[in-house]
Amino acid sequence: VERTLSIIKPDATKRNLTGKINAKFEDAGLRIVAQKRIKLTKEQAGVFYEVHKERPFYDELCAFMASEPVVVQVLEGEGAIAKNREVMGATNPADAAPGTVRAEFAESVGENSVHGSDAPETAAAEIAYFFSGLELVG
Ligand code: GTP
Ligand code: MG
Repeated sequence: VERTLSIIKPDATKRNLTGKINAKFEDAGLRIVAQKRIKLTKEQAGVFYEVHKERPFYDELCAFMASEPVVVQVLEGEGAIAKNREVMGATNPADAAPGTVRAEFAESVGENSVHGSDAPETAAAEIAYFFSGLELVG
């Protein structure tokens, strides 16, 4: 079975939406096999989003990700990476399909409530960034 790294972002934790977002994952058949609430430093957010460091919104993105606690989690299921991105909806909530997390909860293209890995290689690296092997039970 496939695993993906999900983050419930500061705009969503601040509005107490963790349970509502998790319900959407579970309703889609994704299983939350690891989960913790942490507060990132700007530096830790910067390392996580290193692929975006040349983008104009990088500093804003890192500051946002460090502004409030986040919930980092590992979702497991058949085709979990694609399924999670389907449940999340498009990056910009204005383009997100009805019923998706971002259509229902995201505030803007930057403060868009969730992150999800985009490929098997990034999923493996992102899971290892936040979780040790001991935290990953079947
Ligand atoms: P992630 O799952 O968070 O990686 O989102 P994504 O894959 O749908 O989008 P992408 O990887 O292209 O961008 C990463 C994150 O950068 C987005 O989720 C947004 O939080 C942020 N972002 C993307 N575009 C913009 C933008 O134009 N302005 C701002 N402020 N943030 C942006
Ligand atoms: Mg991305």
